Amino acid sequence: MPAMTLSPLVDALKPSATLAAAAKARELKGKGIKVLDFTLGEPDFNTPEHIQTAAIEAMKAGKTHYTPSGGIAELKEAVCRAYKRDYNLDYAPAQVLVSNGAKHSIHNVLATLCGPGDEVIIPTPYWVSYGALVELTGAVPVLVDTTEASGFIMTPEQFAAAITPRTKLLLLNNPSNPTGGTYTPAQLEALGKVAVEKNIPVLSDEIYEKLIYPGSEFRSFATFSPEVKALTIIVSGVSKAYAMTGWRIGWTIGPVPVIKAMDNLQSQETSNPCSVSQYAAVAALDGPQDSVEAMRVVFERRREYALSRIRPWQEKYGITCAPPGGAFYLFFNISSMLGKKLPGGQVAKDASEFCTILLEQAHVALVTGDAFGAPGFARLSFATDDTTLKLGFDAMEEFLAAAI
Ligand SMILES: Cc1ncc(COP(=O)(O)O)c(C=O)c1O
Repeated sequence: MPAMTLSPLVDALKPSATLAAAAKARELKGKGIKVLDFTLGEPDFNTPEHIQTAAIEAMKAGKTHYTPSGGIAELKEAVCRAYKRDYNLDYAPAQVLVSNGAKHSIHNVLATLCGPGDEVIIPTPYWVSYGALVELTGAVPVLVDTTEASGFIMTPEQFAAAITPRTKLLLLNNPSNPTGGTYTPAQLEALGKVAVEKNIPVLSDEIYEKLIYPGSEFRSFATFSPEVKALTIIVSGVSKAYAMTGWRIGWTIGPVPVIKAMDNLQSQETSNPCSVSQYAAVAALDGPQDSVEAMRVVFERRREYALSRIRPWQEKYGITCAPPGGAFYLFFNISSMLGKKLPGGQVAKDASEFCTILLEQAHVALVTGDAFGAPGFARLSFATDDTTLKLGFDAMEEFLAAAI
């Protein structure tokens, strides 16, 4: 027996596939190759000026010490004000826990509520980390397949059918990474009715709440009724809306006993989220919101451009793409390209191989749908500059046209 055997739960963890895809692209870049990189899910903008200033001022004022483990009162209060302002939801600061990014928030919710023998319902395609974070608690992800035709929306019937006596949670992501699928209020309300009827808590990951495009509407899951609200645990944060991925601030809003237990866990794990980042997040939530809209408008323009390039691919190559209602991803079905001879002479048998060949031959980096539980698909992040977007589509067009 080796002295350092790994815990079976950690040993079974796979590295984040999106980060792995980005690393592969970086490796090529390291060799001096210009890679058109569409792998990473973060805004390419810098954090707005007034938020940076708040962080600098906090630092200068000596806010550089440990904070309460669950976050500073000012930020919890700012979160409550923001949910009242944006969604007319009433929460008390005791219902808010601040963590090191929404990913950490999700981990803490799952670690607090789930254990061996529990099941967590996750609609697919799902964000890469969900399955791993559920498995880390010893619970089992119960995957519910959604379809491209429905815009990747789980129906209430599918939700109800997946529930068993062991169901602990529904993990819902709206708008979705990787599909951009955005539930209509009526669709959410129908899921909420099932949750109330069957008494199933819902972890609603709303991190892309501010990135919504014409024709879609965002509703926080907690808004439908007091009964739904009582079962809802909201996770969100500043990463996507305020271009603050590196600051690592996310939050959980939910019932006081759950928040308290999460706070205990967090106090043992990490002490507290970064002090300076918390003050920056207060400025983000309380300050002017026009930069959020300004960035959304740029994403909207890029989305339009990307869709205009991808639409003709349906007729030309059999590649289809459900327009995303939110977030900043296109999730397209490339299964028609599998089995074809691609440039360089290779044949891809699955989406992972297709993405590898595309990277090697056309120097375009996408993330395979396999990483999201969606074989035959690829994800493109349009959170990148216009020139890269144009060159990327030009290179993909050339690659696809040469396939036989
Ligand atoms: C669906 C989803 N949830 C949560 C997160 C985590 O965000 P954060 O940077 O706040 O940890 C991401 C980031 O990519 C995401 O796509």
